[in-house]
Amino acid sequence: MQRKENLSICGPSGTGKRHFCEALGQAAVEAGMTVAWFTIEGLGVMVRRHRPDDSVTRAMTRLIRTDLIIIDDIGLLPVSPDAAEGFYRLVDAAYERRSLAVSSNLHPSGFDEIMPKTLATATVDRLLHHAHVVVTQGDSYQATAGQGVKALY
Ligand SMILES: Nc1ncnc2c1ncn2[C@@H]1O[C@H](COP(=O)(O)OP(=O)(O)OP(=O)(O)O)[C@@H](O)[C@H]1O
Ligand SMILES: [Mg+2]
Repeated sequence: MQRKENLSICGPSGTGKRHFCEALGQAAVEAGMTVAWFTIEGLGVMVRRHRPDDSVTRAMTRLIRTDLIIIDDIGLLPVSPDAAEGFYRLVDAAYERRSLAVSSNLHPSGFDEIMPKTLATATVDRLLHHAHVVVTQGDSYQATAGQGVKALY
């Protein structure tokens, strides 16, 4: 985070991506840093809220005062145009200034499957320029730790 590097964590469902981001956020808070937690849909809401008075850029500038911004679960739900715009704007605003941690079931090189290709390319170029990429694998903790879902009757 002192070097303004990003984290991209991707892999199948239930393999601990959120767990890892939560631990990272906790460690950052314990080290006296500030952390914000978003979903990509939340970034879309932020864009919509600030569009009427043209204050989206200002809102992003405010947001990147946070030392670490975590965006969890990209690609699980369809990405709306507002969410894609918010994600691009955040990644662009934070580029070489702030650290982002992004979790997804998709590797960022596949983000053009969930958002417009030009936007995805520009976003992922910036995101991965100074980034640690962690790929999780294995069985889902949800399925194994709880032995899966048992019938209630
Ligand atoms: N290393 C670990 N030790 C113990 N429990 C873990 C570990 N990693 C993950 N878990 C637990 O397994 C469950 C699933 O993990 P998590 O939500 O982090 O997965 P995910 O990769 O984000 O999945 P999804 O893609 O479905 O969002 C959670 O209850 C989490 O606390
Ligand atoms: Mg998750």
